[in-house]
Amino acid sequence: MQDLSLHILDIAENSITAGADRIKIRIVEDIGANLFLMEISDNGRGMDKEMFEHASDPFYTTRTTRKVGLGIPLLAQSAKDCNGNLKINTEKGKGTTITATFQHDHIDRKPLGDIEKTMIVLIASNPDIDFILEHSRNSDLYILDTSEIKKELGDVPINNMEVIKIIKDDISAWLNQVNNMIE
Ligand SMILES: Nc1ncnc2c1ncn2[C@@H]1O[C@H](COP(=O)(O)OP(=O)(O)OP(=O)(O)O)[C@@H](O)[C@H]1O
Ligand SMILES: [Mg+2]
Repeated sequence: MQDLSLHILDIAENSITAGADRIKIRIVEDIGANLFLMEISDNGRGMDKEMFEHASDPFYTTRTTRKVGLGIPLLAQSAKDCNGNLKINTEKGKGTTITATFQHDHIDRKPLGDIEKTMIVLIASNPDIDFILEHSRNSDLYILDTSEIKKELGDVPINNMEVIKIIKDDISAWLNQVNNMIE
């Protein structure tokens, strides 16, 4: 996986498979603490004990199409490579939260990458799911919540091309602003 936004896409796909209708993606960059944290939480069906115990094992999957499940093990490895870790918090019937941490300035930490694309792919192909993106860098915070946008839209679907473009531009504007800031 080239960048972290692709890991996020992959982990969010698990939430979709788990039947979630609300998926929150939280990214915390705390430069002072040298921390990069990303967390994907959902209200899907959660994991039972057996699933939970095996979720980090590449040879475990509840998929029926192939025999390995790599989403979680690959992210766990990426985190470990950067002095971080991956934690799974899950409750059957309630939901799942996957949290990965990284040393922010670690030489091997992949860049966040194209998070705009990850978000619009998720939103456009799953209009019935509410997505929240919460991204903070130090004391600056950005929040995108599709349930709020849907309220404004009335009858216009969230995956309308113009709406998708507005969402993409909004995320890009935030990233430009925060990336141009002097630390
Ligand atoms: N958000 C989630 N809710 C419920 N179960 C989950 C969730 N995420 C992962 N799982 C369980 O953990 C297993 C492993 O997930 P992982 O992403 O590593 O592999 P996969 O989704 O099976 O395959 P791949 O990601 O390679 O397509 C899944 O098959 C599923 O049983
Ligand atoms: Mg997966």
